[in-house]
Amino acid sequence: MALLTGFKKIKTAVFISGTGSNLKSLIKFSKLKKSPISIEMIVSNNVKSKGLAYGKIYKIKKKIFNFKKQITAEKEILLQLKKSKIDLICLAGFMKILSNSFIHKFKGHILNIHPSLLPKYKGLNTHEKAIKNKDEYSGCTVHFVNSELDSGEIIIQKKVKIKKKDTPSTLAKKILAQEHILYPKAILKIFSL
Ligand code: GAR
Repeated sequence: MALLTGFKKIKTAVFISGTGSNLKSLIKFSKLKKSPISIEMIVSNNVKSKGLAYGKIYKIKKKIFNFKKQITAEKEILLQLKKSKIDLICLAGFMKILSNSFIHKFKGHILNIHPSLLPKYKGLNTHEKAIKNKDEYSGCTVHFVNSELDSGEIIIQKKVKIKKKDTPSTLAKKILAQEHILYPKAILKIFSL
């Protein structure tokens, strides 16, 4: 009797700049049978990213690039991605803006998670802005990356209630917890047939 051999997982690189808690949740998700992705590479622009530690823990290739020379860095990244046959990039707290030429080469294959209900509050300091504007809700968004900052097609969003006593940091914490659930959900949504 023939055995069901399952499907080939999509080779994925996760780009980070800092703590890497979304990276951790994506790695955990990638280990599940139902996950369509396998994480093959961690890319960072910052040698001090705490998230790089997950490379060691989970035995995933780590690559660090100096974005002070962005054109060179992106060329090198593209080479590495090609070498490892990467087909999907997940930006997870990656705080550099990729060039149009880079995005074009991976068009439709780059996802990002952003800590606001886009199109509200693109860019930085999203929690400060939501509180300052006395919004009732903020949240997080997973979207495709296009050449305009935080503007690509939205895949999925999660609302989070803002309480009167919330500060940017308490709100950030609540939203981050939801991000960890939302990113895997977005990936399942895109790749479920
Ligand atoms: C997350 O809140 C993510 O949405 C945000 O940075 C944090 C990274 O946390 N990303 C952006 O602001 C991108 N514009 P993490 O390193 O613990 O995953």
